[in-house]
Order: sequence, then C-alpha cells, then structure tokens
Amino acid sequence: MEPFPQHLLGIETLTRAQIDALLLLAAGYKRERREAREGNRDALDAHRRVLAGRTVVTLFFEASTRTRSSFEVAARSLGADVIALQKEGSSVSKGETLADTAKNLEAASADALVMRHPFSGAPHLVAREVRCPVINAGDGAHEHPTQALLDALSLREHLGDLTGKTIAIIGDLAHSRVARSNLHCLNKLGARVRVGGPATLIPMGIEKLGCTVHHTLAETIAGADAVMCLRIQQERIGDARLPSTRDYARRWGFTQAHLDSLAKHAVVMHPGPVNRGVEIVSEVLDGPRSLVMDQVDSGVAVRMAALALCLGRAGAKR
Ligand code: CP
Repeated sequence: MEPFPQHLLGIETLTRAQIDALLLLAAGYKRERREAREGNRDALDAHRRVLAGRTVVTLFFEASTRTRSSFEVAARSLGADVIALQKEGSSVSKGETLADTAKNLEAASADALVMRHPFSGAPHLVAREVRCPVINAGDGAHEHPTQALLDALSLREHLGDLTGKTIAIIGDLAHSRVARSNLHCLNKLGARVRVGGPATLIPMGIEKLGCTVHHTLAETIAGADAVMCLRIQQERIGDARLPSTRDYARRWGFTQAHLDSLAKHAVVMHPGPVNRGVEIVSEVLDGPRSLVMDQVDSGVAVRMAALALCLGRAGAKR
C-alpha cells in the first residue's frame, strides 16, 4: 500500500490510492460503529488500543460543532487521550505565536495536532515546526480535507463508485474550504462536478479545479446524482457581495420541487451548520433523501481513519 502522508493538510496533495485507503478503513470503522450501536459492544472494542497511550490535541481557533466533537470522539474511540484547546483560554490570546504554541504542545507530549484556523495555510506553517502529525480541520477558505472525505464516504455508500456520477455544489463557492476540498476529492474519484451560485460568490477561474459553472439553480442541478448545498458564510461574505439572504433563498434555496425534479436515487447534502430556509428548506433537510446526519456519522469514522493513518497505526488493533 502507498504510504499515507504524516500530515493531512489537504486533498489536493493526496493520491487516489491514499484517498481509497482512507475511505476503506473509514468504511470499516463506520460499519463497526453501527454494529456497536445495535448492541454488539465488542465491535469497536478491538480498536481501543490503536492509539492507547497517545495524546491528540485539538486546537480550534474558529467555532466548530461537528468537526471538533467528531475528532474528539474519534480519538477516544481509538484509545487516545484528548486535550481540547481554543484560542480563548490558550496563551495565543496573550500573544504567543501559533508556532510557539504548537512546539510547546509537542514538548508536552502531543502525538498529533488537529487544527482549525481562520488563515489559509496555518496548519502548513505548524507542520513545518513540529515533528508530530498535523491534521487540518479547516483553514480559512483553503481546505477542509476530512469534510470532503466524509462526504465521499457517504456518497459512495449511497451511489456506489463515483466514476461518472454528477455532483452539484451550490452556494458560496468563494469562501468555501468545503467546496475546494470536495472539488479535489470528487475529481480524483472520477465524478463530474457542476457548481452554481450568485456571480459574486463564484471565484474567477474555478473551472480550473475541475467543474462547470452554472448561473441558475435549475441549470446547476440538472442530471445531478447528489446536490451539496453550502452554508452562506455571512461572517466572511459581508453585505456588499450578498445584500439579502431572502433574495438568496428565493434564487438559490433548495426546495422539495428541486428534489422532485431529480432522479429518484438522487440525494441532498449539507456540511453544516445549516441556515434553515436559506440554503435548503427544512422539509428536504429533514427528509428521507437527506444525507446530512449520515455525513456526521461518516465524520467520526473518517476522522478515526485519518488519526490512525497519520499516526501510523492503521491495521493495529492491540
Ligand atoms: N462541517 C463543519 O465543519 O462543521 P463545524 O463547523 O460545526 O465543525
């Protein structure tokens, strides 16, 4: 098997073989998590020593519900100790540099750093300063690799091999690290990607990442096997680029009528957090063709696989 990189900083630099290896491992963890929920408590016990004696530090300089909690559940499921730090409450708030913080955490026995930061490239900077693995949990508008991998796991489970499948991504492509990572990942897995959103939220030259650009919602989702709605990141967008979320909802909000226009097998996704009634209506979000909760379940399994692979412990059970 092709070795997995020490750091998981983005999808752009992963090979297809590395993505496949991670998804295979994650699919096994996801199956075993399901078996454990159904009463077979032994299903996950075998993995509790994979990272026993290791310490995973999560460093979140931006808010998170899904990513942070699922990394913590993932690390603990593999037997690791977890230390969770945020900007407030860490010495970064007193002016310590990010590199110094990371080096001090490593000196205090961190075996892996999981990091979210508002600046693109921050995890790359840290990875140059420490010897332990660094996993990018989202850096600015750059990449969110584990989100794309969990999306791929859910998509493959529902659509099978993604070769030739059409995935539509709708919304704020300009600020979305989820979209960038998904463009890299879906292209590597052989899917066709269509993107659409308000002109002010579609970056110039995005076609170079492997997609076609469309200017209405109906055109964007035509023939889609899956539709991925993105969150309107009002905190990054500002009022000039998107004056009215009501107008956005009218033009780009995904409704039951849009879902009904797709093939029966087509599914809808959202990375969360969702602005209900803006990117997607509740009827669809909570409906039977929504993968949103399955994406969260995939997230724990993918993050278990990422930790095991980056720490060189994939395959180890005891
Ligand atoms: N999808 C995602 O990254 O969600 P959080 O911001 O809650 O982690």
